[in-house]
Parts: sequence; structure tokens; C-alpha cells
Amino acid sequence: MIHPASIQEVLEKCQIDDVVRDFVTLQRRGSNLIGLCPFHNEKSPSFSVSPSKNIFKCFGCGKGGDSLHFVMELENLSFPDAIRYLAQKYKIELDETVTSEVQKDEQKHLESLYLINDFAVKFYAKQLWESERGRNIGLSYFKHREFREEIINEFKLGFAPESGNALTAEAVKMGYSLEYLQKLGLTNSQGNDFFRGRVMFPIFNMSGKIIAFAGRILIKDTKAPKYINSPETEIYVKSKTLFGMNFARKMIQKEDECIITEGYTDVLSLHQAGISNVVASSGTSLTRDQIRLIKRLTENVLILFDGDNAGVNAAIRGLGLTLEEDLNVRLVTLPEGDDPDSFIQKVGSQQFKEYLDKNAKNLVQFEMTHLLKSAGDNPQQRASILSQIAVTISKVRNPLKRESFVKICKDLLQIDENAILFEINRHLKKDLEKASSERDTNEPTPILEFKDSDYDNLSLGDEHQERDIARILILSGNQYIDENKEVMVGHFIIQNIKDIINGFDHPLYKRVVELFLQHSMDGIAFPDAAFFINHEASELKNLAVSFTISPYTLSENWEKKWDIFLSQKIPEENFIKDASDSLKRFRFRKIGKLIRENLMVLKKMDVLQNEALYMNHLKLHLRLKEAQASLAKETGTVVVG
Ligand code: GTP
Ligand code: MN
Repeated sequence: MIHPASIQEVLEKCQIDDVVRDFVTLQRRGSNLIGLCPFHNEKSPSFSVSPSKNIFKCFGCGKGGDSLHFVMELENLSFPDAIRYLAQKYKIELDETVTSEVQKDEQKHLESLYLINDFAVKFYAKQLWESERGRNIGLSYFKHREFREEIINEFKLGFAPESGNALTAEAVKMGYSLEYLQKLGLTNSQGNDFFRGRVMFPIFNMSGKIIAFAGRILIKDTKAPKYINSPETEIYVKSKTLFGMNFARKMIQKEDECIITEGYTDVLSLHQAGISNVVASSGTSLTRDQIRLIKRLTENVLILFDGDNAGVNAAIRGLGLTLEEDLNVRLVTLPEGDDPDSFIQKVGSQQFKEYLDKNAKNLVQFEMTHLLKSAGDNPQQRASILSQIAVTISKVRNPLKRESFVKICKDLLQIDENAILFEINRHLKKDLEKASSERDTNEPTPILEFKDSDYDNLSLGDEHQERDIARILILSGNQYIDENKEVMVGHFIIQNIKDIINGFDHPLYKRVVELFLQHSMDGIAFPDAAFFINHEASELKNLAVSFTISPYTLSENWEKKWDIFLSQKIPEENFIKDASDSLKRFRFRKIGKLIRENLMVLKKMDVLQNEALYMNHLKLHLRLKEAQASLAKETGTVVVG
């Protein structure tokens, strides 16, 4: 039992931002900090931390509470374990009475699982360091592989003896339940140890608790698997685990990059050489959960492939997920015959890093080089490269990134850009069709309230709204907005912004709008996207091309800065809603600007000198505020001040 005074002490010491930062990268937003919610999947931050109130709250999934709630919820910890975790973090010595053997059996389910793994890790370490077999076989194996004692200790490596049931017998003697030992996979159904004659790698969760083990064979045996692993349990979900994350977390944040290797030993070796922002995928392709785990810490990923290259094809296919999750991925293949472990031991960390820098490629370059190499001179295979690479590029969410990939593709394949765009659009359409049938299952939309200070951060240029209007006009200006085919999108937009066309700041977007206005007034048919793509003015042509590459994606800035403001993501196909939402936002921004300008005029004005004019401006102010408020309601925005 932990003494209440101790609990009190821990709770008083906890700084929520400090606690959260160990798991989530936070950015300042006014007096709060925001980040990607660790409790639900999201692409834009709705997870907010208030240091002054010492609490967190996710506006997306609704979870909230103090530091204790946070770790309990995130790491699936019981109350006492959460207190222990926090005490350890803040170096507070807990006043705790030791639990008896009987009580041990009564511990809650999860706690027992952790407890037994803790026992096992100590058992294996003791075998490694103290038993004769352990030292002669296990420890000497690690030493032979040049793992130093600190790293062996830090990663809590161990040795599982060959004999039948050494671990199981001792565990049972200590009062641990056989049922749980079996559940954890430490003991097999016959009551013998599962791991035998292997060196042991504990697998930790984010907060450093042991959730599973991997055991490596020591002899070259073609029949037995090189590694065997614990089964999945409530505390070990493979697809959500990355080996080494607990050790790497801080450095990943600091370096703003996560290095992913294939193997456990790679992680150890790199750590030993001073490269600590590294985790292992454990030889399988990355899952969406793992990617999201990384994404909470950084957007930059560097994936190292062993030089044997066997799994590259499969791996590339799996990497589409990283694009969908909008990570910046670079990839490196190590020299023939090497893996990160052997390579860094050979050349040292300096040369290792230089090699990575020199050879890292983005996904398109990497895939292309790989495909070109395996296609050789075969014209048919070369022709199919475009289609394969288009699948990859179509997964890129960020339009700028996508454009740059198209360029790379064009240069490497030396084919017409339009052919590439055509292929990409074909895949995009397919994806869109799929997505629209899945749309119902979308994540909840965050509704955030923000304060004055936050609002300041948002008062940026109006370029993105203007761009959006231009985008809609070019892509769907000549389409009908209603079923009766009476009103076109172009008319609808022009009608709505006629009065504020002069408010357009960006000359190019203004030009698009004016062109539509002209057509509208002349009563002639609106131009379509092809008209712009073939336009002689290169600015218009480029604009149209960039819109067709990314017909439904918003610019990154827009997303980043406006996310909390958007009541929902712009639906790709529903251009009617798209158009009216964009208009509302555009007007909202422009009205805000007018309000500010009008207020400046009011401030400078002397009421007594020209009362009528003053009253006009005042009335204008009230009207504008009213319009702003009603638009705010429609767009789900909170107006401040
Ligand atoms: P060393 O060869 O000892 O340096 O280990 P390694 O980690 O470099 O192994 P390797 O490159 O062969 O495999 C990479 C990763 O794939 C390993 O770390 C394991 O996670 C996984 N792996 C390899 N072999 C097996 C196996 O036989 N069974 C299972 N379950 N996983 C394996
Ligand atoms: Mn390896």
C-alpha cells in the first residue's frame, strides 16, 4: 500500500505538460499547449493541455483529467502503478508497504501480468550475469557481438537457461500463478519454460514497462526460428508496439526524426554508438498504429533496410501508409551484406551518419530506382513503372509534396508530366470512390473554443481562402449546383462575392474571379478546367495544373492554421457544400478584416466633428458584427470580442 501522504506529494509535484510531453509533442497555442491526441486517431491536433490548470482535455474524443488520469489511461496503469510511475519520474521516494505473497495473487489482472514480466526480466538478467551457463554462453555471446555492459544493462538483456522449467519453478515458488505465466507465454502448456537456451530481449511499452520478450537462438540452426516471441496479451499488442520506443522517445522528439531499423540488435548497436532516436519494426512492415505512435513525436522518418534487400518489395508496398498519414519518409539501403548493427560496428557512428545522409532517398526516388533496376531494359516492365509509382504518389496528401514527387517522377522516367498526372488522377478517383463509401465512419470533428490570444495566431493572410475560391471556380465553376440545373457554381460564387471582389488580395486568384465575373455578366458559358490548363498565360495554366493534381486537398497551411476553425473537412466530391463552405469562410475572413479597418476609422474619428459620418461607421460596425456572428454560427466558429 502506498501511504496517502506519498500520493499527495506525487500529485502536487506533477506538471501536466511535463508528463504529457513524454508521450506527445506539444506546441504552444496561446496559454495552452496542443498536440495530436494519444487516445484517438486524428490528423490535426485537438488535444489541449493547460499548464495553469494542470489538466489535459481532448476536444476530439472528450478525454480529460490530470496527470494521474493521463498516465492511467494512456498506459493502462492501475492507480498505484500510475503513482509509482509518476513518483519515479519526479524522483520521489514512495512510502509504500510491501505487498505479501497472498496479496500478490489478489492483485488485479493487468498488474499481475506486469509483475510477472518484471520477475522474469530479473530472472533472465540474473541468469545472464550470475549463472555459469549464462556467463559462458549468453554474456559471452553479447560481448562477442561487442555489446557493452551498460547497454546490456540498460536494455535489461538476459539469458534463458536450457533446462526444462527453471523460470517456471522459481516463479511458482514465489507465488506467481501458473495460469498467468502461461498466459504471458513464459510457460508452455506442459508447464515448461517457453524460452530456453536463448538470449533474451525484453520488449517495453512507451513508459518502460515490460510487456513481452523476444528470445534469440545462440546456435546456427536452420530448423529453429532465430527469434521467438511472447504471444499477444492485454498488455502486448504487437501492431501497436515498436521495439526501443521507450528509450528513443525523447531523442526522437529532440532530433525531430525517428530512425526505423528492422532488428532488435540494430537498435542496441545504434544506441551504443550514440544514435538514440531509433526503434525497430521487428522485421514486419509498419502498421497504421505504429505510424501514429511515431507521428505523435515527429513527422520525419528515416527507414533503414538491411543490405540483403530481400524484403524491400513488400516493404515499399507497406509504406503507402506513411504517405497517407503524411509522414516525411526517407529510406536507405545499407551496403550489401550489412544491417545497421554490423555496419555501424564496422565504420563507426560518424561514417554511418554520413552514409545515411548521402544515400537517403524519398519514397518516390527509392521506389523508382528500385523499379527501374528490376525492370532493366524490358519495355513492358518499364511501362508498368508509371502505374506503380502513380499509386504511391496518389497517396501523398500534401499537394506541394505531391507536386515535387511528380517532378522527380518526370525527371527519372523522362515522360510527359500530363501522362503522370493522368495516371495519378485515375488512382485518386478510385480512392475517392472508396473513401466516399467509408465516409460515415469518420472520426469525430473537434470543436475547439479559442481565446483572444489564439485568435491572433489565426489572423494570417487571406490567401488560402482566396486560393480555395479560385480552385472551386476552375474545377467546378461550370457545373450545376442544383438538381434542376438552373444555377451554376460559378454564378453562385460570383453572386456571393460580387460585393467584396475588391477585397481579394492575391492578384492571380482575383484574376480568376474577375474572369468568371466577366463571363457571368456577358452571359456566356463558363470556362472549364481544360480551358485554364491550356491557357496561354503560364500563371493560370500552372494554377490549374496544381489544382488538378490535388483537386481535393487543401494546402498544408490552410489545414494547419484553420483546422480548429473548420467545422468539417471539405468534402471532396460535394462541390456544392464545398463551394458554400468556402464562401462562408471567405466572407467571414473578409468581414473580420472590414471590421478591423472600420474600427480603425472609428478610433481616429472625432464624433463631434462629423456626427453623421461617425454614426454611419458605427452602424456599419454593428452590421458587420451581426453578419460575422451569423456566419460564425454557420461555420461552427466561436467569435471572440
Ligand atoms: P541479429 O542477426 O542477431 O543481428 O538479429 P537481427 O535483429 O539483425 O535479425 P534479422 O535482421 O535477421 O531480423 C530482423 C528482425 O526480424 C529481428 O530483430 C526480429 O524482430 C525479426 N525476426 C528475425 N527472425 C525472426 C524469426 O525467426 N522469428 C520471428 N518471430 N521474428 C524474427
Ligand atoms: Mn539484422
